[in-house]
Amino acid sequence: MSDKAWDQIEAYINEIENTECSDMQALEQFRIRFLGSKNILKGLFSEIRNIENDRKKEYGQKLNDLKSLAETKFQQFQSLLKKSEREGSKKTMDMSLPASPFHQGSRHPVSLVMNRIIDIFEKIGFVVSEEREIEDDWHNFTAMNTPEDHPARDMQDTFYLKNSVTNLLRTHTSSVQSRVMTSQEPPIRIIAPGRVYRNETISARSHCQFHQVEGLFIDKNVSFADMKQTLLYFAREMYGPDTKIRLRPSYFPFTEPSAEMDVYWGLKDEIDYRITKGTGWLEILGCGMVDPNVLINCNIDPEIYTGFAFGMGIERQAMLKYNISDIRLLFENDVRFLKQFSSVI
Ligand code: PHE
Repeated sequence: MSDKAWDQIEAYINEIENTECSDMQALEQFRIRFLGSKNILKGLFSEIRNIENDRKKEYGQKLNDLKSLAETKFQQFQSLLKKSEREGSKKTMDMSLPASPFHQGSRHPVSLVMNRIIDIFEKIGFVVSEEREIEDDWHNFTAMNTPEDHPARDMQDTFYLKNSVTNLLRTHTSSVQSRVMTSQEPPIRIIAPGRVYRNETISARSHCQFHQVEGLFIDKNVSFADMKQTLLYFAREMYGPDTKIRLRPSYFPFTEPSAEMDVYWGLKDEIDYRITKGTGWLEILGCGMVDPNVLINCNIDPEIYTGFAFGMGIERQAMLKYNISDIRLLFENDVRFLKQFSSVI
């Protein structure tokens, strides 16, 4: 009998080493067989009394080794099965689970309107040109034919950099005109979007920072009629195919003649009366033929080239489009306000 017990131990070691538990059920069977309350090793433990005295110790040792082998194997199988269970559950998708919330961002209304304006001009061959916001007074004022004593240069209107009389925050995107004209040969056909700064008191209607889009077209034989047609095209793309425009004579140091363009908004309700001051017309942009002095300042021969330029504010157009009554909302970045806007206009 005792020999049989030794052989049995060997047989179980063999069995355990060759066992594979491919699922939880197989694992449970393994547990019951080798580690359960009625496990098969028990018989071998009681067999110890039949072992010759001088081999009892060795026998007990062997039996204990067998038991720990069974325990180790069991633990290995268990952790393997649990791991593959976890991975398996990752791969299978439960379609009935609620989706995790996905916060979609939205574009700022100023960007929406600015991008729309850029799109319209890009369609007819204008190329985006972006320039610095910190300018020198030559590019912002002098080159743009703005005399030394012009009120716009005043500290009351312009932010100068600390301890500097020449460096300032650009007051209009017209500074891009002089940057481009001094670095590129005509023909020039650019659109320049960007932020500008003026030393203004902040209120519901005005802010010390805002955005403009500038346009500049320089070539041979560019006429006022070209400008008018370009701006009419813009107005109709932006405000609808039946939009009417009018050009009112105006003054800018860098254009001659100069004009302001209004679009007909209509007088449908009280709000229209308020925003158009009872006229039905809305002022959208300033424009004009580039003053020959500006061309000379930028080394372009006014005998050969002519051109037109225009500049428009973005905030007011965004406020009109989205019915926003206070310009400050556009700069406070309150998420409750911003998330009302979609990503495309
Ligand atoms: N720079 C002018 C402004 O800020 C707008 C303008 C641009 C007018 C180009 C004429 C030509 O008001």
